[in-house]
Amino acid sequence: MKKKLGIGLVGFGTVGTGVWETLQRNFDLISNRADVRTEIMRIAVRDMNKARAIGAPVEKFTTEWSEVVADPSVDIVVELIGGTTTAFDVVAAALRARKPVVTGNKALLAERGEELFALSRECKTAIHFEAAVAGGIPIIKTVQDSFVGNRILSMTGIINGTSNYILERMTDAGLGYEEALKEAQELGYAESDPTLDVNGWDAAHKAILLATLAYGFTINPDDVYVRGIEMVRGIDIDFAKRLGFVVKLLCVVREHEDGTIELRTQPSFIPKSHVLSSVNGVFNAVAVHGDAAGESLFYGRGAGKDPTASSVVADIVEAARGLRHDGGHRGFLPYRDHGTVMSIDDTQTPYYVRFDVTDEPGVIAKIANILADAGIGISGTHSPVNADNPDAEFVDMVFQLHTCRFGLLKDTLKEVEALDCVNSRPVVFRIENLG
Ligand SMILES: NC(=O)c1ccc[n+]([C@@H]2O[C@H](COP(=O)([O-])OP(=O)(O)OC[C@H]3O[C@@H](n4cnc5c(N)ncnc54)[C@H](OP(=O)(O)O)[C@@H]3O)[C@@H](O)[C@H]2O)c1
Repeated sequence: MKKKLGIGLVGFGTVGTGVWETLQRNFDLISNRADVRTEIMRIAVRDMNKARAIGAPVEKFTTEWSEVVADPSVDIVVELIGGTTTAFDVVAAALRARKPVVTGNKALLAERGEELFALSRECKTAIHFEAAVAGGIPIIKTVQDSFVGNRILSMTGIINGTSNYILERMTDAGLGYEEALKEAQELGYAESDPTLDVNGWDAAHKAILLATLAYGFTINPDDVYVRGIEMVRGIDIDFAKRLGFVVKLLCVVREHEDGTIELRTQPSFIPKSHVLSSVNGVFNAVAVHGDAAGESLFYGRGAGKDPTASSVVADIVEAARGLRHDGGHRGFLPYRDHGTVMSIDDTQTPYYVRFDVTDEPGVIAKIANILADAGIGISGTHSPVNADNPDAEFVDMVFQLHTCRFGLLKDTLKEVEALDCVNSRPVVFRIENLG
């Protein structure tokens, strides 16, 4: 008879119900593979009166998460409520009770991981977090285990499905940003409050976790450059197309020769010929470049009930195996006290910059002169004609610029912005040469 281990679920929403269903559906398969039987013993929710499609016995439910953690029949605690406050208390209490934790909460680990991983080491009890990055794609175990023999040179990823869906609809259907966002919400691809998705922070939290694992030190989110997709307009999408690029919300994690880590998330122009350009809809992909393995691409469903449950269940099994076989501590083990996130000002790429200008003679020359004085090369410029209003007073003007330090570009654009003929802050996209 296989040993039985009890699971406590804190949170029974999209992912929690997916975990319940997956554990029920594949019970025999999972038991045989894990060499233990797992059973969900207790479930914490916020509202006991909410109608639930899943037929979990009512006696398992409580609104007190602490009852789940303290229940002697619970050996492993699965935190699936989200947020960084109560979720922190749940994870900390479980670790103190020496109960391994499984979580899919990237915001919690990116913002407060330092405290939690320290507690995890102190209590010799693991935090498993495969579901926190890229839903059903096993990217955490890849970086932690499969690439353990590699120096990781870079990781480049599209890891927010909501933004990716919106950008795809703007590209293929010509929808405006607001229209595409509304459609994503109607189809359930975007939350009713999509802030963290569209402002880039959901993707940035995931990139921070990947960088932490790859480079062994805790990263302060304040050191990370993050821009979202709210400023992308149809004109940018059209220009990208014309120039042979696609606009994607891209996370870039890269180790430089001096040991600094470039870490940024922003809408970028990526070459149409690169495989990441065809990652569409709610799919995610991460290209990992190891010094031994070379470049590998991981592609799949980055969110959703079943794909995310797949990762949570894998972590439950890993935690169960650890308990069953007295496996040692797992989770994040920092091996560097200090690491440096490269200042965004020192990063370098070519750029595409859009200016909102008053349509008067000499505008192009004024902007071009300032750029030239700063030593920034121009590879192209264009002012599109507004077919609906050819005599418009205000027009968009775009410049393609050669590679330069972002700090130099930023300072120079401040000078451009001060021109009377420039009406708002210039919008900058990086042109990523992904090799
Ligand atoms: N959804 C995805 O595709 C996805 C993908 C990857 C990672 N994740 C992560 O997984 C976590 C859960 O996401 P989700 O989409 O499943 O969220 P969700 O659908 O909003 O579900 C949240 C669940 O937590 C319960 N809850 C909230 N506050 C609680 C509290 N104080 N005490 C007890 N229960 C509480 C809610 O109870 P009620 O049911 O009573 O409201 C609900 O069952 C988040 O960290 C998210 O970032 C989600």
